[in-house]
Amino acid sequence: MNLGIERYETILITGANGLLGHKLVQLLIHREHVLVIATGLGESRLPASYAKYYQWESMDISSEEQVNSVFEKHRPTTVIHAAAITQADVCEENKEKAYIVNVLGTKNLIQAAERFGCYFLYLSTDFVFDGENGPYIEEDQPNPVNYYGRTKWEGEQLLKQSNLSWAIVRTVLVYGVAEGLSRSNIILWVRESLMAGKTIQVVTDQMRTPTLVEDLADACLLMVMKKSVGIFHVSGAEVLTPFQMAEMTADYFGLDKRLLQPVNASTFTQSAKRPPKTGFIIQKVQNELNFEPKSFTSGIGILAKQLKLADS
Ligand SMILES: NC(=O)c1ccc[n+]([C@@H]2O[C@H](COP(=O)([O-])OP(=O)(O)OC[C@H]3O[C@@H](n4cnc5c(N)ncnc54)[C@H](OP(=O)(O)O)[C@@H]3O)[C@@H](O)[C@H]2O)c1
Repeated sequence: MNLGIERYETILITGANGLLGHKLVQLLIHREHVLVIATGLGESRLPASYAKYYQWESMDISSEEQVNSVFEKHRPTTVIHAAAITQADVCEENKEKAYIVNVLGTKNLIQAAERFGCYFLYLSTDFVFDGENGPYIEEDQPNPVNYYGRTKWEGEQLLKQSNLSWAIVRTVLVYGVAEGLSRSNIILWVRESLMAGKTIQVVTDQMRTPTLVEDLADACLLMVMKKSVGIFHVSGAEVLTPFQMAEMTADYFGLDKRLLQPVNASTFTQSAKRPPKTGFIIQKVQNELNFEPKSFTSGIGILAKQLKLADS
């Protein structure tokens, strides 16, 4: 594929040990004219086979000093900012920490990027919306109902106020598989639970447009190539309830659907309130970037192949 990146780019990725970070590194390392600076907390957990194709920097985004020192050393031209505390309940229970990482960490990166005139792509979330009227378009008004959503929305506003060339990529319920992840996702959770013969309760009264991580990484790359500016909703196109996703996962892997127990969200006592009906209308990225996401069933198939490879 001709990626159209003609001049030499130094792309700095934050959160490279995370699900999206893994896939971004994988996508970018073999491209011509691209130098990848992968950053994360502590040591790299990326596959050893990638090691010679990127440079790793241990960088806690909440440390201004660490951020400045990595920027001075590598002078990036583009920043893809995927790092965050991404679990809504963790943010709700540790507000100070969530603020320091998700808001002040983003501020540190923006300030450093301003000094080097970087193009800045920031990952945000459907949780900036209250979930009363989804699926949403880019112009809809955010109104987060939990602390995670608030911190991501504050990050968006910092970026908009900056003098950078920026894109905000909001996404929804990302699924996929990679080595050494610090969190699971819906397909892995359903598959592992049903394989263990465990009954699980799955919500029927929430709506999302689940996103295959490879699709999200492709969209980020397209934006970096085009230096797209503005807010973009990037997700799958199908509006599904978590229960429907669980049924489709069980069907795909031939697992026992009777272990899936349909429940209302009110059954759970989670610290962070969840927006009921989110999901995105993705017409803007379809029109402007020719982005076409996989169907949820194809996405499960892609993930299944990767699981098989990992097991073999
Ligand atoms: N996953 C979803 O469903 C979803 C939905 C909507 C939006 N998003 C957004 O998409 C982006 C990528 O998500 P993801 O699925 O790849 O999440 P992820 O797997 O949780 O990755 C986030 C990464 O950020 C790292 N991180 C946490 N605190 C940090 C700090 N202080 N300094 C540096 N790195 C730090 C984590 O490190 P450790 O691995 O070491 O903990 C993790 O590797 C996030 O910005 C998220 O808000 C995700």
